[in-house]
Amino acid sequence: MNIVELIRKKRFGGALAEAEFRFLLNGYVDGRVPDYQMSAFLMACCFREMSDEEALTFVDVMLRSGEVLDLSDIPGVKVDKHSTGGVGDKVSLILAPIVASCGVLVPMISGRGLGHTGGTLDKLESIPGFRTNLSIPEYKQVLRKTGLVMIGQTEEIAPADKKLYALRDVTGTVECIPLIAGSIMSKKLAEGIDALVLDVKYGRGAFMQQEQEARRLAETLVRIGTYFGKETMAFLTDMNQPLGIAIGNWLEVVESMECLLGRRGEEDASNDLMNLAHALAGAMLMLGKRASSIEEGEEMSREAIRSGAAYRKFLELVEMQGGDVGAIENLENYPLSKHTIDVRIGEGGFITAIDPLELGFAAIMLGAGRQKVDDRIDPKAGILLRKKEGDRVEDHEVVATFFTDREDIIDAARSRIANSFQVGTTPSAQRPLIHSLIDKAGARPWR
Ligand code: URA
Repeated sequence: MNIVELIRKKRFGGALAEAEFRFLLNGYVDGRVPDYQMSAFLMACCFREMSDEEALTFVDVMLRSGEVLDLSDIPGVKVDKHSTGGVGDKVSLILAPIVASCGVLVPMISGRGLGHTGGTLDKLESIPGFRTNLSIPEYKQVLRKTGLVMIGQTEEIAPADKKLYALRDVTGTVECIPLIAGSIMSKKLAEGIDALVLDVKYGRGAFMQQEQEARRLAETLVRIGTYFGKETMAFLTDMNQPLGIAIGNWLEVVESMECLLGRRGEEDASNDLMNLAHALAGAMLMLGKRASSIEEGEEMSREAIRSGAAYRKFLELVEMQGGDVGAIENLENYPLSKHTIDVRIGEGGFITAIDPLELGFAAIMLGAGRQKVDDRIDPKAGILLRKKEGDRVEDHEVVATFFTDREDIIDAARSRIANSFQVGTTPSAQRPLIHSLIDKAGARPWR
């Protein structure tokens, strides 16, 4: 087979067969296919459709580029959740310990920041010592003992996605339904789960800008999960403003810990984050057979926060994965950025929009994300929102604070962040955070 021929086949709208995908993807993993050829192939995928059958073949080959884990020797139902990515989306840090503390096992394999969105792995690695690169025996041992494990892809698990994910991040080839579906489902199907809950986001801060596109992605993901014999449920959720208040790795860990401790998330600006965490936890507990409905699962989730069980579960996880529990128990002792800068708006009124895409890119400028594959992340860098949509602001009031070690970008970051806020004379209409739910029976509105 000839790689240039395969690139041209996709470029002109042809469908690759299983053997062709195997040649291309396995060749990429073992270094025979260089980045520049894979980049050209990915770009061709972005401009051409894949049929349902081709998308299934793509997932299957990605999945089989590595090991498919068998966790059947660990008793209990295993359920994971995956988000298609957003800004300020730290739900996994809250949800995983909630669900595990309620008795459903959560083996979670997460990704790094991609494009303007953050990644759970980068957030976890901001905890000093926390190891996300466990071996498979260690992964199983932590899951068996804690009921929860959170790692990144190893060389063994979906290695094709591991390499492709990093390449897509820096070649403008993220927003493509079959590539996203292949990436998510190859990781998730390889990790040994019984069921999967997906958070498929749409809006300015998501890879899918329109709700209809997100619905197509959700349907594709549910179809793939069902085809591979896993109960799969997708939530369509709004990402037109950041979730919660923090954007940036350690800042998001802090917000998550405050939510797990029950100090935030009820009546404040983290309330969207917690409502989503409880809904997703409710679905995971239902699929994990601990609750008879999502609503009952949501109530169990709220109780796991009230009782402190979810917070204790997170500490257990940190300890098991080599992290510094003291850093979590004493959040205020973490090193500070060299610069703390307040961002003010001009004339007051009501916040009518907060652009998550602009804030995601601003966070990258500050050092919280990558522009090139080998960029190092500054875990302290990021943005704290002081106001959210619908809030009243006075003239020249602070709407956000940012943290960075990079002096040269301060002015540019300040104006980029200020320009992400729109202020009007009346509050804009409220949008639902959760739009609908999709499973193998079809789509239905959420409440
Ligand atoms: N999340 C993933 O794991 N992969 C993608 O391609 C996009 C979001």
